[in-house]
Amino acid sequence: MIKKITSIIVTFSILINISLRADEGMWLPLLLKQLNESDMQKNGLKLSAEDIYSINKSSLKDAIVHFNGGCTAEIISDKGLLLTNHHCGYGQIQAHSTVQNDLLTNGFWAMNASQELPNPGLTATLIVRMEDVTAKVLAGVSDEVNETEREKKINETINAIQKEAVKGTHYGAYIRPFFYGNEYYMFITETFRDVRLVGAPPSSIGKFGGDTDNWIWPRHTGDFSIFRIYANKDNNPADYSPDNVPYKPKHHLPISMKDIEKGDFTMVYGFPGRTSEYLSSYAVDMIMNESDPAKVKIRETRLAIMDMEMKKSDSVRIQYASKYASLANYYKKWIGEINGLKKLDAINKKKQFEQNFLSKVNADNNAKNKYGKLFNDLEKAYTQFNPLNKQRDYYIEAILGIESVFYAYTYVNLIDSLNKGKKPEELQKDIERLQTAKKQFFKDYDSKTDEKVCAALLKIYYDNIDKTQQPDVFREIEKKYRCGNNTTLMFEKYVADIYKKSIFVSETDITKVLSNIAKNYKKVQKDPVYKLMLSCYTKFVQDIRPQYNKLEAEVNNLNRIYMKAIKELVSDKKYYPDANGTLRVAYGKVDGYFPRDAVFYNYYTTLDGLMEKENPVVDEFIVSPKLKELYQKKDYGQYADKNNELRIAFCASNHTTGGNSGSPVLNGEGQLIGTNFDRNWEGTMSDIMYNPDQVRNIILDVHYTLFVIDKFAGAGYLLNEMTLVK
Ligand code: ARG
Ligand code: GLU
Repeated sequence: MIKKITSIIVTFSILINISLRADEGMWLPLLLKQLNESDMQKNGLKLSAEDIYSINKSSLKDAIVHFNGGCTAEIISDKGLLLTNHHCGYGQIQAHSTVQNDLLTNGFWAMNASQELPNPGLTATLIVRMEDVTAKVLAGVSDEVNETEREKKINETINAIQKEAVKGTHYGAYIRPFFYGNEYYMFITETFRDVRLVGAPPSSIGKFGGDTDNWIWPRHTGDFSIFRIYANKDNNPADYSPDNVPYKPKHHLPISMKDIEKGDFTMVYGFPGRTSEYLSSYAVDMIMNESDPAKVKIRETRLAIMDMEMKKSDSVRIQYASKYASLANYYKKWIGEINGLKKLDAINKKKQFEQNFLSKVNADNNAKNKYGKLFNDLEKAYTQFNPLNKQRDYYIEAILGIESVFYAYTYVNLIDSLNKGKKPEELQKDIERLQTAKKQFFKDYDSKTDEKVCAALLKIYYDNIDKTQQPDVFREIEKKYRCGNNTTLMFEKYVADIYKKSIFVSETDITKVLSNIAKNYKKVQKDPVYKLMLSCYTKFVQDIRPQYNKLEAEVNNLNRIYMKAIKELVSDKKYYPDANGTLRVAYGKVDGYFPRDAVFYNYYTTLDGLMEKENPVVDEFIVSPKLKELYQKKDYGQYADKNNELRIAFCASNHTTGGNSGSPVLNGEGQLIGTNFDRNWEGTMSDIMYNPDQVRNIILDVHYTLFVIDKFAGAGYLLNEMTLVK
């Protein structure tokens, strides 16, 4: 009954667009005081907005790190110790792994500073401050100019402001649009470039449950890894050097050792990547019925082939581990998103909202003038945009999903320059870049696997894209390789042929070519993989992208107007901007949920539950003997809860998305209680439509993190530099 009533309230609240519960939203730290402070305090926050974000004193913000531009991490000691997810450090852990020394399988623990492993290219970025620059960016921009002009003007202004803001400092700056370009904020950043791996649990802990359990609650994954930020002797960012010293942060997060209870206040501080909460029904229709299903189908094929090859060979397994995981991740998310949107009846909810909205518009002459045609325009724009979006999805997922093709594509600029008569001396930088990239590419490349993927993806493309829209190369393939009606065989024969000849699938061959590129570049142009790539690339760049960009600009423009109209006409609500990779705070509370009729999921999991999932013959569910031993002895030390159980994960109602991985989850006092690492399957539609009944973020309980470091790995010395609050 209670469930029924809440769901009626939810439907109603979406209809009139008033959020009745606090949980939805990813808020700008700068605006917490104005928009959220009192609500947060009512819900259990003991701090002030100024404690969370301040430019005058140290605040929680100073411990929040953008990890390599994708994930979030948090500083947990005064020596720059950094906590993030295992899956966020996965690329680095993999890079240090070989078949003989497999850190993915065995884990890794530096037992002192000298054993910490440097990671070239890895960055840790702090936010120095943020600033509303809307007025500056939009000064002199009128609604009359067309979208392309407008964008050009805005970009010029943005570049100038950014440059001015960090002149004479070692800081960086970026400005991002918010609310579809109705507002702009600038972020001043400090980026550290010497970030070392300190520790990672074995995959049997850090990735326990693997892709089977990914996006799933209840969860038993110890998804964490530990790094450390190094700085020069002035505590400033520097390239790797053995002389660098641990970074001294302005703030590090204390760690709460208290049990977590249902209803506890939680907040998540991090860098959510992308959401689209204010789209029209037409856009949601496109995503849910066209775009997501197409991408799911393409990835399914790729993943099945990769999986087969990885099972056959240990070296392929390591080479493809990281690639597989990241492909599988969004593949599964999109399926969940489609299901969730269906269950929420999202399109109809949007339509109802649009109808209500339109009656508001029509009731007011001024609004009617401005917005009366808006939904007609949106419908028309999306009808045109949809087929181009499909072309682009297939180009990106199917064509560029072929590794050799994607690799050949990185040579286009160089070959082009040589064709135009540039001397190799002038291109030395490009050539060096390709030399480095070559090593990285072939380290994780298996041409046999790629050959199979290539044949399968070309066929998917061929079967789904209208013939008139296909690149010319497909006509040539038909001419030369046709096998009656058997197009599977046709592509297999074609691909076998080109992979035998191409230099892009062999490190030896490409090394030779690159060593004297001035002499060899004509040969590259004749390479069959290069030709395949160029045909597809040319088609995309000449025919599809210009149209796509034009329509995208139109859609953006309409979305900007729609967003403005919503804020204007439904003004009794607080609005949060969509995620865009910038620093945000989400808050909610610890809570279980009903995933299905009559089924309730509790809010936390334990080591007992992990043992229930144990399956020695399935890779993803193997439990290491050491962990089992600790379990059998119940040797949980200070990490046990009041029932003498060891908790692994918990879930809460914070509104999060991709990019929030690794984000600190904090209690009302600003102490660390866990690390965000996933969202529940039933809640993955929250990027498009949030529902407080169903959406949960999944958090690694910090007790388990500390237990693994201390009891499992024997790296308890690291706890000495942390601040534990009992
Ligand atoms: N779903 C989580 C996120 O979106 C974790 C992904 C990594 N884990 C995995 N099994 N692939 O990033
Ligand atoms: N695992 C995701 C990440 O890497 C977070 C899960 C989500 O999308 O909410 O950011």
